Amino acid sequence: MSRIRLLPETVASQVAAGEVVERPASVVKELIENSIDAGCRKIDVVIRRGGISLVRVIDDGWGMDRDDALLSLERHATSKIRSAADLQAVATLGFRGEALPSIASVSRFRLTTREAGAVAGTEIVVNGGKIDIVRDGGEAPGTQVEVRSLFYNLPARRKFLRSENTETRNIEHQIHLQAIGHPDVGFSLLRDDRMLFQLPPATTLADRIRDLYGVELLGRLVQISAVPSRNIRVGGFIGHAGLSRQTKSQQLVFVNGRAIESGLLTAAIREGYHTALMKGQFPVTFLFLEIDPAAVDVNVHPAKREVRFRDPTTVREAIVDSIQQTLERSRTEWKEKFRAPAIASKPVQEKTVPDLTLRAQTPAPAEIHRELPHLGPAVAGGIDRAKTPSVSPGGHTDRLPTPLVDSSGDAVVRQRSQQLATEQQFQIIGVLSKLYVLMENADGLVLVDQHAAHERILFEELRRRMEEQGVPTQKLLLPQTFDVPPRDADWIERNISILQKMGIGIESFGPGTFKIDSLPGFLSVSEPAQFMRKVIDDLKSAGNSTSPMRLGEEMIAKTVCRHAVKANDPLRYPEIEKLIRDLLDCDLPYCCPHGRPTMIQLSLAELEKKFGRKI
Ligand SMILES: Nc1ncnc2c1ncn2[C@@H]1O[C@H](COP(=O)(O)OP(=O)(O)OP(=O)(O)O)[C@@H](O)[C@H]1O
Ligand SMILES: [Mg+2]
Repeated sequence: MSRIRLLPETVASQVAAGEVVERPASVVKELIENSIDAGCRKIDVVIRRGGISLVRVIDDGWGMDRDDALLSLERHATSKIRSAADLQAVATLGFRGEALPSIASVSRFRLTTREAGAVAGTEIVVNGGKIDIVRDGGEAPGTQVEVRSLFYNLPARRKFLRSENTETRNIEHQIHLQAIGHPDVGFSLLRDDRMLFQLPPATTLADRIRDLYGVELLGRLVQISAVPSRNIRVGGFIGHAGLSRQTKSQQLVFVNGRAIESGLLTAAIREGYHTALMKGQFPVTFLFLEIDPAAVDVNVHPAKREVRFRDPTTVREAIVDSIQQTLERSRTEWKEKFRAPAIASKPVQEKTVPDLTLRAQTPAPAEIHRELPHLGPAVAGGIDRAKTPSVSPGGHTDRLPTPLVDSSGDAVVRQRSQQLATEQQFQIIGVLSKLYVLMENADGLVLVDQHAAHERILFEELRRRMEEQGVPTQKLLLPQTFDVPPRDADWIERNISILQKMGIGIESFGPGTFKIDSLPGFLSVSEPAQFMRKVIDDLKSAGNSTSPMRLGEEMIAKTVCRHAVKANDPLRYPEIEKLIRDLLDCDLPYCCPHGRPTMIQLSLAELEKKFGRKI
C-alpha cells in the first residue's frame, strides 16, 4: 500500500507559513516589505493586542488589478522575479511569492487594493487560506491588508506567542528597522487606538534617526565617510567611540536596503571599533552596505533575515576600514571641539569657590609641591584673570621653573594653569574622590577617570613602540619550556613571528613544546609559562583573522592595566596636567583600551536642565 500522499494546498501553505510567519511582527515585516516594493510614499500600520487580534497595513503604492490581486494569494506567485537567473540578483525586498498566501492561510485575511487610474478596486476576504469573498472595493488607490486572529486555526502556534507587550515591542522594532532602512517613506503606528508615532517622509537618514530616536542620540553619532572600496559602499551613521548599549537592539545593519542580521558584519563592526568598545557592549550603528546584488545571496533564510556574501572577506574589510576611518575622523573633530576655549563667564571670587572637600581627606603634604585637590580654588579663580599675578606677554612663562616647584606655591600653579589653559583651552578644577579629574571646557564640565586615562596613554605608547622599533625585550634568567595541547601548538606555530615581534622570544622545542627566553620589557611576570598560556587563550579568542598589530594591541590592552595608575593614587598637579595633555594627544582619547570611557562631558545645557533652569 502506498504511504506517500500529496498534501492538500491549504496544509502545504500552513507548513510554509510556519517558516515565514513566526509572530505578528513577521506579518508586519512582510506587509511593509510588499508596500515598499510597490513604490509607496507612506505606510500606516494599525495593531491591536500586540498584533494578535489585528494587524492592518495601508499603503499608497501602485496597487493591483483584480487578476493580480487574486494571483498574489497563490503560492509561488510573484511579480518580482521570473527566472532562476533573476534570483542571482534580487533588487526587491520580496522574491519568493510566499508571504501573502502564508499569512492568509493562518489568519482571517482581507486584501483591498486599487490601481491609481482604476474606476474600482478589489476586495478579497480569505479565511484560513480559503477565498470566501471577491468583490469590488472602494478604497483609495494603494493596498490595504488586514490580518485578524493570527493563528486562530493553529492553536499550537498561538500558544508560542508571547505577551501582548512583548509582541508589540517586536512589531515596533520591526517598524523601526523598516523606517530607518527607508527614510523616504512616511510611517505611522496606531496601537490599540493610540498613535505611537508618525514619521513624515524624511529627506535624509539623519532626519529619520532624529524623528525616531531624538536629537540627543543623533548628536552622539558620526556619519560614515569612507572611501568606497571594491564595488562596496558603506554609509550611514555609527556611534561615537564610548557610546554603546548592552544589547544589539540599536545595532542596525542594512544590505541594499534590507535589514539583516549577520554574524560576519557584527564581528566586522566590533573589529572596526576594536579598543573603542567596552567588553560585552554593543555599538550603536545605522550602517548601510550597498553592494552589487549579484554579489549577495538573499535566498538563504526563510524570513529573509540573513544573506550570504559571495566574497565575505572583502565585505568584512570594507566594514572594518570604514568604521576605523570614521572614528579616526570623528576623533580629530572631537579634539578640536574639546580644545575650544572655555568661556570665562562671570568672574569667580576665590572665596566663593567651594572647596572640593578632599582637602580634608587628603592631608596636605608639608612640601610645597602640592597635591592637586588644593588647586581647586586657585585654578577656578584663574578664570578671574585680573586677580592672577600678571604674566608679561612674550615668554615670561618660558622661565617658569621646571619641574614645577617654587616657593610661591599657588601663584606658580595658577600661572601654569593659565599657560595650560591657553594652550589646551581647558582648565583643571580639582580631583574628586582621588580618581576623577574635574575640568572645565567650552561645553561645560569634563570628568576624567585618571586610571582609564593612564591606561589609554600607556596603551598607545606601547603600540607606537611596537610599530616603530619593536617592543624592547628582557631576557629571562632561565629560559623556560612549556607544553600546550595540539590545537594551541598549531596556533602558536602559525603566529610565532607575530609573537616574536611583540617581544616574546618563543621558539618551537619539539612537538607540542615551546621555549621562551625573553618577554616584553614592560611586563613583570613571575611565571612566564603560565603567562604564555593565558596570552594564547586570550589572543585565540580575539579571532583568527588577526594581523601582527592587532595581536600586539590585544596583548598590550590586556597587560597595560597593571601598569596604569590605580584609582586612589594621588597625583601631583604637574602629573595631572601631563596626564591630561598626553591623553589629548592620544589617537583615541575618549576611551581606555577596554572601551571604557576615559572622560565624560557634562554640558552646560545638561547642568541647566538638571538644576531646573531650563525645561
Ligand atoms: N502592497 C502591495 N502593493 C502592490 N502589490 C503587492 C502588494 N503586496 C503584494 N503585492 C503583489 O503580490 C505579490 C505576492 O506578494 P508576496 O508577498 O506573497 O510575495 P513577494 O513579495 O513577491 O515575495 P516574498 O514572499 O518574498 O515576500 C507580489 O509579488 C506583488 O506583486
Ligand atoms: Mg512579499
